[in-house]
Amino acid sequence: MNILELSEVNAYYGNSHVLFDLEMAIEENDVVTLLGRNGAGKTTTLRSITGTVPRREGRIEFRGDDISDMSVEGISKRGIKLVPEERRVFPTLTVVENIQLAHELAKDPREIEEMFEIFPVLDDLRKNQGENLSGGEQQMLSVARALVQNPDLLLLDEPTEGLAPVIVEDLREVLGDVVDRDVTVLMTEQNVDFALDLGETAYIIDKGSNVWEGPVSNLRKREDLLDEYLSVGGGEAE
Ligand SMILES: Nc1ncnc2c1ncn2[C@@H]1O[C@H](COP(=O)(O)OP(=O)(O)OP(=O)(O)O)[C@@H](O)[C@H]1O
Ligand SMILES: [Mg+2]
Repeated sequence: MNILELSEVNAYYGNSHVLFDLEMAIEENDVVTLLGRNGAGKTTTLRSITGTVPRREGRIEFRGDDISDMSVEGISKRGIKLVPEERRVFPTLTVVENIQLAHELAKDPREIEEMFEIFPVLDDLRKNQGENLSGGEQQMLSVARALVQNPDLLLLDEPTEGLAPVIVEDLREVLGDVVDRDVTVLMTEQNVDFALDLGETAYIIDKGSNVWEGPVSNLRKREDLLDEYLSVGGGEAE
């Protein structure tokens, strides 16, 4: 069964039309990667799902219900959580406090201790303040804050952006663990290797329109697509 379906989704910032009749169908417990160049509309797609884009049209169904007219809070309560590109952790709160705060917001949260099992790095940093964490640690904390709220659908916007290769490797491992825990994941990525490693299904968009979709195993063989629509080798991780 599809957990999320987008049909003929259009999105706008003021007079600027950036998504054009976008279509997606995401199966429950799949890991889907949304690929595309800078400015292709990946973040806007995620914002359309969470309701945080200024204007959108079309139909967005979550578990068969139309959520396209629901409020941002309503959509969040339905179990869709976004980890935005700019990581959101409270700088003056400790790691535990950051997770506790997210835990308190949720109706049916996961156990806080489960987060430390998934993210052993954070276990060692329980008492550290958010502002003293490295970029990779902050990214893990951001994901933990979303995950502790027990979302059905986790949206990750460029989780590897700005992270060093060893940290990307750690993140790949923990996200592999996350996706084994009954969560559907939709992530955007510019790091194609990371995306293809973790994802099962991929969508490519360009200039706000669908270009290709299919199993990741098929995309690996399509160097033409990777060359044309993605900046292969020019990824964010240095
Ligand atoms: N707040 C905004 N106001 C006006 N235009 C915007 C805004 N945010 C994004 N855009 C425009 O919408 C288009 C899609 O942007 P979006 O951020 O969705 O792309 P992206 O695929 O996430 O790119 P990147 O890989 O750089 O993150 C771009 O042309 C961008 O300039
Ligand atoms: Mg983006």
